[in-house]
Amino acid sequence: MTDPTRTERTSIIPSEGPTSLPLQASSVVGTTLREHVLAGMHAAPGATGQFTSLLNHISLGIRIITTRVRAAGLAGMLGYTGDTNVQGEQVQKLDAFANDVLVNVLERSGHCGLLASEELDEARFATNSGKYVVLFDPLDGSSNIDTNVSIGTIFAILRRRHGEIVPHVEDALQPGRRIIAAGYALYGPSTIFVLSSGHGVDAFTLDPNVGEFFLSHPNIRCPERGNSYSANEGNYARWSKGVRRWNDWVREENKDEGRPYGHRYVGSLVADAHRTLLKGGIFAYPADTKNKKGKLRLLYEANPMAFLFEQAGGAATDGHRSILDIHPDELHQRTPLIFGSKHDVADYEAFASEKRT
Ligand code: AHG
Ligand code: MN
Ligand code: MN
Repeated sequence: MTDPTRTERTSIIPSEGPTSLPLQASSVVGTTLREHVLAGMHAAPGATGQFTSLLNHISLGIRIITTRVRAAGLAGMLGYTGDTNVQGEQVQKLDAFANDVLVNVLERSGHCGLLASEELDEARFATNSGKYVVLFDPLDGSSNIDTNVSIGTIFAILRRRHGEIVPHVEDALQPGRRIIAAGYALYGPSTIFVLSSGHGVDAFTLDPNVGEFFLSHPNIRCPERGNSYSANEGNYARWSKGVRRWNDWVREENKDEGRPYGHRYVGSLVADAHRTLLKGGIFAYPADTKNKKGKLRLLYEANPMAFLFEQAGGAATDGHRSILDIHPDELHQRTPLIFGSKHDVADYEAFASEKRT
């Protein structure tokens, strides 16, 4: 007979029958994403509720994508559509589905003036009066879909800069410093929604039985130093001398300095980012002789991750400067992307710039 006075928080709602405890609402049902965002709205002077509504629509889109991801193998959602996107990549059925869902919910919100997606050649004007810009990677880690490895969705929200009614594509080409909120969903063993609107980083876990996201990781802080590095070492021969030296250094035996670091690489940016955010360490996708400007996209992969890591006390760089200080020239431009614990990122920059050998 289990002790009725112990209510293990194994789920949001205790699975066993009624407990003898006087149930306080907060001890039985956690804070939902909707409540958390609403509390943020009430705390924001002059808030109109439009930003709250926009986030709730993004959350709806992510919950819809979750249902299809979870049953992709059964819902004929594996494999390719036969199309090639602006990146020159073959489009997976789940890429296209996730993109359609997010475009739909953003347009329906009525508060998105302009949207840009990895899967759309051009920026799209959603609602002329919408005062926000949403930039997103609808399905990140596509190469892992068919092998059932964690994938994700990444987004950033900015305010439109151009006052005229008709949104302007320049609204999408703003530096990451102007992001007002960013987040990602990780479709892993559970679906986790990680979000910052400029006041720290919180994570919410989807309870599929309830269909709601509940606060599971309040105020996430990225450790100042970690003990793992994440990089596709298949590119080693193509890296610069400084980056190769960093990679050699992080793998050298040095007990006093906690090296070698462990190596972890999923190949889905969202999965590698989430582990690094929680446990610390460093993720690096440097430029190389094949991807001279880097592989990852600035607007809807690098900037959202950089915003989140800086909000959590971490750092994000292209090897020389903060990712958030880069002024975009074009929608799908790529950048080297290195992020993680601030001391680990500083070490990387010292080697990459050959200040350290
Ligand atoms: P996407 O599936 O949205 O195109 O992103 C794939 C990206 C990113 O998720 C990951 O970090 C990187 O590609 C992996 O690249 P490699 O396969 O070259 O390591
Ligand atoms: Mn991606
Ligand atoms: Mn993608």
